[in-house]
Amino acid sequence: MALKLTLVGMPGGGKSTVGKQLARQIGVPFVDSDHEIERRVGGSVRQFFDQHGEDAFRDLETEVLAELIARPGDSVLATGGGAVLRERNRELLHAGSTVLYLRSTPEDLFRRLRHDTTRPLLQVKDPLAKLRELHQQRDPLYRRCAHYVLESARPSVHALVNMALMQL
Ligand code: S3P
Repeated sequence: MALKLTLVGMPGGGKSTVGKQLARQIGVPFVDSDHEIERRVGGSVRQFFDQHGEDAFRDLETEVLAELIARPGDSVLATGGGAVLRERNRELLHAGSTVLYLRSTPEDLFRRLRHDTTRPLLQVKDPLAKLRELHQQRDPLYRRCAHYVLESARPSVHALVNMALMQL
């Protein structure tokens, strides 16, 4: 059976960074669902959000996730922070891969994302309040989707990769 690992969690939680290193260490391809979406639409997630809205983005995200999970072969997949919002996505990721939830506090996420302009949902007056709201809403959904929760009270990427490897 193919080795498929999926990372879920809030924006800024380290899914892409940890995912890339994990993939390198195991020796399998790394895939990022947001990059796949960007490749398809020929522009950034932020532009797509601005032009077509969140619902259209979520539709595309579901299509891309289904395709990536169905793709034969091993991979480490990093998902967008909102990938768990739809039940269909949660089921599809959970059934088709081993799902790791990289869990951070909203305060740590805020520290990492303070100067970020690429995340459309955080382009608001009070990004910390928004992160708290999103975390509260999504934490149970990440847990429902995941097989394992990796608590990341600011550990290094290296430590997170090792924590992930221990789950395999
Ligand atoms: C989103 C997170 C983003 C991206 C989109 C929506 C979200 O991915 O998919 O902007 O709803 O939290 P990252 O988690 O990589 O920032």
